Parts: sequence; structure tokens; C-alpha cells
Amino acid sequence: MSSHSFLQIRELSKRYGGAPKPVFEGINVDIERGEFVCIIGHSGCGKTTILNILSGLDSASGGNVVMDGREVSGPSLDRGVVFQGHALMPWLTVAANIAFAVKSRWPDWSRERIQQHGQKYIDLVRLTGNESKKPSELSGGMKQRVGIARAFAIQPKMLLLDEPFGALDALTRGTIQDELLSICSQTQQTVFMITHDVDEAILLADKIMLMSSNTSTGPAARIAEVVVNTLPKTRTRADIHHHPQFYKIRNHLVDFLVNRSSAPTVMNSIGGIGYPPEIFPGLTSEEDSSDKSQKPSLKKIK
Ligand SMILES: Nc1ncnc2c1ncn2[C@@H]1O[C@H](COP(=O)(O)OP(=O)(O)OP(=O)(O)O)[C@@H](O)[C@H]1O
Ligand SMILES: [Mg+2]
Repeated sequence: MSSHSFLQIRELSKRYGGAPKPVFEGINVDIERGEFVCIIGHSGCGKTTILNILSGLDSASGGNVVMDGREVSGPSLDRGVVFQGHALMPWLTVAANIAFAVKSRWPDWSRERIQQHGQKYIDLVRLTGNESKKPSELSGGMKQRVGIARAFAIQPKMLLLDEPFGALDALTRGTIQDELLSICSQTQQTVFMITHDVDEAILLADKIMLMSSNTSTGPAARIAEVVVNTLPKTRTRADIHHHPQFYKIRNHLVDFLVNRSSAPTVMNSIGGIGYPPEIFPGLTSEEDSSDKSQKPSLKKIK
């Protein structure tokens, strides 16, 4: 682990008052500037709670988060959040919800500049023509797109996305995924994103954090592994499935979710020095010996 990473999460834990055990503990993550990190894990393991702590909207019970050299201790416009439940202001129109955020970010901007800037992002998420509608007049997917436009519009140092595409139809989802990839490669945007969609994670993420499950009787959840995406950066939705590495990574993720996320062997071995390990699916000796010649012993313990 580098002591100079853009975002450092150290020994993070969260216990809600009165609960017998923490939701998660011992979370250690490093994210470099410009890196796109996804987190995957079963419902209830604590993904949203981690994201809320990163945003400064919730506080940890233990450990800390440092972003760009400063400890996160409250909300900031340095971090743009797309919430799982939209979190729009119901009394404001689509345009005004976005303008409100843009004005907070750049208080000196003229009304016209704020409007023009906001419109760019309304167009980006294909909401053109809906500027004057209130959230109550929008579908779930449209509300989600307003939230995405608002987070992108403030051009934050870090984007925090909580299942941002969950309520979108396949066409819009694909278009916005492509846009997100293009924005990230143009602006070196750093992103922390929660998703349940393994294909989406493989398309977008440089690293995929796998979180163990949180059962009422077992240990608290942790990051069990960090899967490094070994597909070329130039991957697209159209060609990703043709790459031989794709299914090796996909199978590894699905296997974790289905078989290993709460298996006693995983739960008992995680935590302590060397965790989470970085895994390169298909390129590690125990998973595919035929690939050994490409890149030997790439399973690294940090
Ligand atoms: N305010 C709260 N008080 C008590 N417990 C809470 C509170 N908020 C969340 N929890 C508990 O913390 C755990 C983690 O919740 P969280 O929302 O972070 O899960 P998640 O991984 O995002 O799940 P999902 O995939 O369903 O969104 C859950 O067991 C939940 O019941
Ligand atoms: Mg959640």
C-alpha cells in the first residue's frame, strides 16, 4: 500500500448503535488519481455505508479516510455523489436541481453560464426537453439520470456512484457507460462505484473490490480480494466479449459472489497483513496453468 495514494482508506469500520457486531471492519483500500474502482458484494454487506463515509455524509466507527492529503470529515464539492435513491430536491425542476449544484460549486458564475453548463450535462444523459419537469413527473430512470448529470456537472475530484445505472433501460445504460468511460479517459476522473452488474464492472473498472458477505452470525464484512482488470484500457462494450481474458475475469467474479463470499475458508482467512490480496484472474497459476507463460505468478500479496 502506498502512503501517497490519492485516496486512502485505513482500517475502516462501522457499527450502528446497539448492534452486536460491526457491519464491516478492517477495510483498507488505496485508489490512485484517475483510477476507476468498482465494489461488488451482496446486499447488506455495507457498500453504501462505505460510500457514505467516503462522501462525508456518514462517519466511521473506526479508521479513517484521506483524500488528496486531507482527512475526510464532512461533505465537500470535491466529491460528487450519485445516490442509490436519487436524492433530488423535489420542489426544483430538473434544470434547477442541476443549476443549484453548479452554483454551489462556482458561486461567481453568471446565471447564463450556470444554465449553459447544466444543459451540457442534461443533454449528455439524454434528458433534453425535460428541463422544466419536477422529479415527481419523472420515471425512476429519469430521476437517476438527473442525479448522474448533477454529479458530473460539478466536475468533482472524485465521483462516488451508488448503483448509478440500476434503473436505466439497456440502451441508455450503455450510452451513459460509454460517456462515463470517455469522460474518465479525457479528464482522468477518479471514480468509486458500487454495482451489482459484473459485466458493467469489467467494462468500466481498473480494479474490482470483492466484499465478503455480512451474515447475522458470521464475522463482519471485509474486502476479500482486489481483482485487477487485465483487459486493455481501449476495451469497448462491442468488443469486450471477444477478449479471452473477459470470461476468466467474469467467472472469477461470479464464482466469488455465488460460492465464496461467505464461505468459511474465505471468511477465516481474510484480514491482517497482506489483505486484501490483488488477484489477476486467468493469469494466476491455480486458475489457468495454460496462461502461466503469459505472465507468471501474478497473484500479489500487498
Ligand atoms: N441507519 C442505520 N441503522 C442501523 N443499521 C443500518 C443503518 N443503515 C444501514 N444499516 C445496516 O448496515 C448494513 C449495510 O447497509 P448498506 O446500505 O451499506 O448495504 P449495501 O451493501 O449498500 O446493500 P445494498 O446492496 O442492498 O444496497 C445493513 O445490514 C443495514 O441493515
Ligand atoms: Mg447500497
